[in-house]
Amino acid sequence: MEILVTGGAGFIGSHTCVELLNAGYEVVVVDNLMNSKQEALDRVREITGKEVLFYNIDLLDKDALSKVFLKHEIRAVIHFAGLKAVGESVSLPLKYYHNNITGTLNLCEVMEEFGVHQLVFSSSATVYGLQDCVPFHEELPLQATNPYGRTKLMIEEILRDLYVSNKKWSIALLRYFNPVGAHPSGLIGEDPNGIPNNLVPYITQVAIGKLAKISVLGNDYSTDDGTGVRDYIHVLDLAVGHLKALEKVSFTTGVEAYNLGTGRGYSVLEMIATFEKVTGNSIPYEIVDRRPGDIAVSYADPTKAKNNLNWISQKGLIDMCEDSWRWQMNNPNGFGEVGLIKSGNKTFMK
Ligand code: NAD
Ligand code: UD1
Repeated sequence: MEILVTGGAGFIGSHTCVELLNAGYEVVVVDNLMNSKQEALDRVREITGKEVLFYNIDLLDKDALSKVFLKHEIRAVIHFAGLKAVGESVSLPLKYYHNNITGTLNLCEVMEEFGVHQLVFSSSATVYGLQDCVPFHEELPLQATNPYGRTKLMIEEILRDLYVSNKKWSIALLRYFNPVGAHPSGLIGEDPNGIPNNLVPYITQVAIGKLAKISVLGNDYSTDDGTGVRDYIHVLDLAVGHLKALEKVSFTTGVEAYNLGTGRGYSVLEMIATFEKVTGNSIPYEIVDRRPGDIAVSYADPTKAKNNLNWISQKGLIDMCEDSWRWQMNNPNGFGEVGLIKSGNKTFMK
């Protein structure tokens, strides 16, 4: 019996493949590589010494997806595949609705057709929207503030409807807080296209000299130092959370949402200071205006995942920063072309 991982070549998917293979699962990946490289899966093989089967398939191509289910005895699906850039979703909403929602509908239709009813879905803390009380717990009313967030919210609701229609479904909705870090081997990590939108990849690119300075997006929030506070979670802790959720859906039915976060927040300035300590480099920054749509503080109440999944994050901020930095140092060009890259007065070997 195999586990199908959609989006398995991506950041969180590739780390989860490592944990699945290490735990003895057989893994089949479906990914159209629209935001990832096949090299990530070669590195997964290198880390684990195990085979991971890969199909370059778009979830929008339902016939191709069906063939994977015909060929393999899929027991459960971990569904990462989706587009995730908030800003891009505002300018290209139809692309996001089509890719994320139609892709999920196709997947669920094929699963239903083949009698596969165990699903672990990548949701996001973005479904809590603009809350003003922390920590966020799973029973808070949900809202979305952008098309990306609405795709997550809509998919959560679609999956709840699916269970109502057929009580065989067993679905875990995993609401990630802020995934960061990389595999400690330095072989896989986050490989953003172009200039990163998220804080940690931006900081590591400043630390290595690819970008000049980080813009701190507001220092007038009601937090200790005025900058935004987030619950950063190591990607390997997240990966383990998926294995726990997979075990859970294998012997229950229903739809349950779980926060995957540490339960503790750090400010932007704390993140910059920790990276300075870890890298030994100075990280220049300037304070600029707030980013529209950002909230002051977000961190998880992870109690439900602890009680029901027996999952708790293990890695601390230093691990997250050290592992992100090792990945950045070893792969200044991500999984990009082999060769030399030049940035300012520095040249990096890839
Ligand atoms: P990622 O972009 O690295 O991985 C997503 C993968 O899905 C990519 O490899 C991409 O090529 C693939 N994909 C996208 N659309 C596809 C399609 N139609 N068919 C086949 N493959 C497709 O992103 P990630 O950071 O690993 O995130 C994984 C999931 O977790 C996403 O659904 C994302 O929305 C969600 N999530 C991510 C974060 C985060 O900060 N990284 C936070 C909360 C939720
Ligand atoms: C963002 C998305 C969220 C998504 C999450 C995935 C927005 C508005 N929200 O969350 O939907 O689920 O990524 O990880 O895009 N910051 C800076 N300078 C920067 C970048 C960020 O100061 O260059 C600050 C932000 O204001 C925030 C913190 O760093 O306080 C973290 O930002 P980011 O990594 O973008 O994550 P979120 O905004 O929490």
